[in-house]
Amino acid sequence: MDSIKLNLNKELFEKINLRLADFSDRDILLEWRNNIKVREKSFNSQIISKEEHGKWFNDVLTREDVILLIGALGKKRVGQIRFNINEKIAKISVNVEPDSMGKGFGPILILKGSGFLFENTDCEDIIAEINPDNIASIKAFSKSGFTEIASDDNKISMRETKNDFLSLIAKL
Ligand SMILES: CC(C)(COP(=O)(O)OP(=O)(O)OC[C@H]1O[C@@H](n2cnc3c(N)ncnc32)[C@H](O)[C@@H]1OP(=O)(O)O)[C@@H](O)C(=O)NCCC(=O)NCCS
Repeated sequence: MDSIKLNLNKELFEKINLRLADFSDRDILLEWRNNIKVREKSFNSQIISKEEHGKWFNDVLTREDVILLIGALGKKRVGQIRFNINEKIAKISVNVEPDSMGKGFGPILILKGSGFLFENTDCEDIIAEINPDNIASIKAFSKSGFTEIASDDNKISMRETKNDFLSLIAKL
């Protein structure tokens, strides 16, 4: 843990708020999902249709094993975090609004989202599965307290336990 660089922008950290997604977020999430910068880093790089997205989104909003959070800076949505929960383990997915990538939002969303998850569920671990050429994502998860647990040519798996999270957040 001590080796983690805690060079987060603290002012930005305080200013970004997370809330549960609602129906008003449906269309912007499709725009982000279909953006080329997001698709080229995804395991599934196909364009998603409005119909397919609409069904997926309605399902996500009603499921108890999925938490979808929106990060906002003032009124501007800057990214989304999703957790798919199965037996106290949450798989995390994150994306920053395309024009806001590379400005330090990712680690803040991951940390705040992890805090929301651990406060509101009985989850004990968060797992991230990352495309090995997605350096920004690997760095963003490392900065947020995740460590590598497995890797192959197609995927790097990183994990953060609740204890990892609590000791990291205590240093902020
Ligand atoms: C991955 C993602 C969440 C990271 O969030 P972000 O706000 O862009 O990340 P940051 O600005 O904090 O950058 C994180 C680190 O990656 C570096 N970085 C950013 N873009 C980079 C790039 N294209 N290539 C290499 N490094 C990059 C930053 O310099 C920073 O490094 P540092 O910690 O040494 O300063 C965001 O870029 C994103 O949504 N990408 C598209 C979707 C995606 O890949 N999601 C993750 C799937 S697992």
